[in-house]
Amino acid sequence: MSNISENTLVLLKPDTVLRKLCGEILSRFERKGLTLTALKMLKLTPEMAAEHYREHIGKPFYPDLVEFITSGPIVALVLTGPNAIKTVRTMMGPTNPVDAPPGTIRGDYATVMSNNIVHGSDSLTSAQREIAIYFTDQEMF
Ligand code: PPS
Repeated sequence: MSNISENTLVLLKPDTVLRKLCGEILSRFERKGLTLTALKMLKLTPEMAAEHYREHIGKPFYPDLVEFITSGPIVALVLTGPNAIKTVRTMMGPTNPVDAPPGTIRGDYATVMSNNIVHGSDSLTSAQREIAIYFTDQEMF
């Protein structure tokens, strides 16, 4: 772990928008001390979803994943700070909400894998690749 600032991509998924939880989830990240450096609401096309989740193409859950993530608008964020990638992943909790302890975002707001509220980049390489799908340099502050 270091004090060097890093960027991570977070998606507030369609279930978060539908359930009016965007403000609450964003507030958690801001209160933690992460800085909001980009934000956009959009509806993913199947092509964008395939680009984002390309490493999962062919897995059994892939069709459900794409159907869900393209089912309604999402909010894409870039959060910035020291250890931002790990910090966001810890705050989200495990992918399957059943395993996510209370106090984590998925532990507090989700019950099933297919509607798990948030996405956060899992590495520096993924973060750089994912951020470029959603934001131009001019859209980062
Ligand atoms: S893997 O195979 O372990 O790398 O996959 P995993 O990290 O568990 O999940 C990859 C992303 O797919 C989502 N996922 C699902 N979506 C819908 N339905 C089902 N059944 C399902 N299973 C996994 C999971 O939430 C991951 O997406 P992100 O956006 O990274 O959370």
